[in-house]
Amino acid sequence: MDRDFINNCRHIFYCKVKMEKILVTGAAGFIGSHVCEKLLEKNYFVLAVDNFNDYYNPKIKEKNIRAFLNNGNFKLFRADILDYDNLKKIFKKNSPDKIIHLAARAGVRASLENPRLYFEVNVNGTLNLLELANEFKIRNFIFGSSSSVYGKNKKIPFSEEDRTDSQVSPYASSKKAGELLCRTYSSLYNLNITCLRFFTVYGPRGRPDMAPYKFVDLIDNNKPVERFGDGSSKRDYTYIADIVNGILSAMEKENKFEIINLGNSNPIKLTEFISVIEKILNKKAKIIQKPMPMGDVPLTYADVSKAKKILNYKPEIKIEEGMKRFVEWYLTNK
Ligand SMILES: NC(=O)c1ccc[n+]([C@@H]2O[C@H](COP(=O)([O-])OP(=O)(O)OC[C@H]3O[C@@H](n4cnc5c(N)ncnc54)[C@H](O)[C@@H]3O)[C@@H](O)[C@H]2O)c1
Repeated sequence: MDRDFINNCRHIFYCKVKMEKILVTGAAGFIGSHVCEKLLEKNYFVLAVDNFNDYYNPKIKEKNIRAFLNNGNFKLFRADILDYDNLKKIFKKNSPDKIIHLAARAGVRASLENPRLYFEVNVNGTLNLLELANEFKIRNFIFGSSSSVYGKNKKIPFSEEDRTDSQVSPYASSKKAGELLCRTYSSLYNLNITCLRFFTVYGPRGRPDMAPYKFVDLIDNNKPVERFGDGSSKRDYTYIADIVNGILSAMEKENKFEIINLGNSNPIKLTEFISVIEKILNKKAKIIQKPMPMGDVPLTYADVSKAKKILNYKPEIKIEEGMKRFVEWYLTNK
C-alpha cells in the first residue's frame, strides 16, 4: 500500500481517537509561531517550548504567539532546551508524539561574536531533544537546519548530494553538527528524523535582525541603508508559508532519515531585492556601501527537486508578492 495513504489514514485515526501532540521548540520565534498557527489550523495539539531570550526584543515573541494563548489545543512552556531535567518533566507529563525542533541561536554574523553560546544552544540543546526523542519513543523528529551548511559552495543549485564540510561561520558549523547528531541518533536508535535546510525565510513576523526587515525599516524611515558588498550577492529568499508547508509535510511523512532543502530555487540579487522594496514603499533607498562581512556567503540557491519528490513541496510565492505581504504586515505592526 502507498506510504502516503497509510500516513493519511494514521493521521485521520489519530485525530479522531487521540489528537496528535506536536512539541515545537522555538515556538515563539518567527518560523515557530507560523508552524504553531498551521498546526492548530490542522487540528493538532501544540506543546510550545520557548525561553523568550533577548537575541531580539522578547516582546516581539510574546506578540507572535498571543493569538494562540486562548486556544485549548495550545500549551506554552517557558523553558530552556538546555535544561534537560525540566524538558524531561514536560515530556513525561505531556507525552508528545512528534517534535519540530526550531529553537536555536539564529543569525550568522552574531555567531562570530559569541560562538560558544551558538554551539551550546544549537548543538547541546539539539542533543537534549534527541535523547528525549529516543527515551520517549517519538514517532518523528524534524530538525530546522540551514542553507548556511553549504558554505561557499561553487556548484549551483545547492543539492543535498553536495559535500558540506566547509562552513564559514560558527552558526553554520553548529547546524552541520546538529545534522550529524540527527543522523547518528536515527541510525543508533532507529528514529525517524528529517533535517530541513531552510533558505533565507521571510514574511510577516520576520526577524528584525534579518535583511528584509532591516531594509524595509530603514527605507520606510528615510534612513541610510548599509549594503554589504557591491550588491551582486544573491539570496534564495523563501516565503514563510512555503516553508511551513514543507515542514508540515515532512512531519506528516515520517521518513527514516532525510536531509531536504526547503528553498525557492530562484536567487535574487541584493540590488534587485532593494528595488522591490523601493517600489512597494514608493521610496528611494540611500545606499552606503560596506565591505562584505566575514562569515557571509556570496550566494544561496536551493535545488528543491528532492523536496518536490519526497514532500510534494512546491514554493509558490514570488518575491514581489511575498515582500508586498511582508510590508503590509510591517506597516500595521511597526
Ligand atoms: N529565518 C531563516 O531564514 C532561517 C534560515 C535557516 C535556518 N533557520 C533556522 O530555523 C529556526 C527558526 O529560526 P527563526 O528565524 O524563526 O529564528 P527565531 O530566533 O525567531 O526563533 C528561534 C526561537 O528559539 C528560541 N530559543 C532560542 N534558544 C532557546 C533555548 N535555549 N531554549 C528555548 N528556546 C530557545 C528563541 O527565543 C526564538 O523564539 C532556527 O533553528 C534557525 O537556525 C532559520
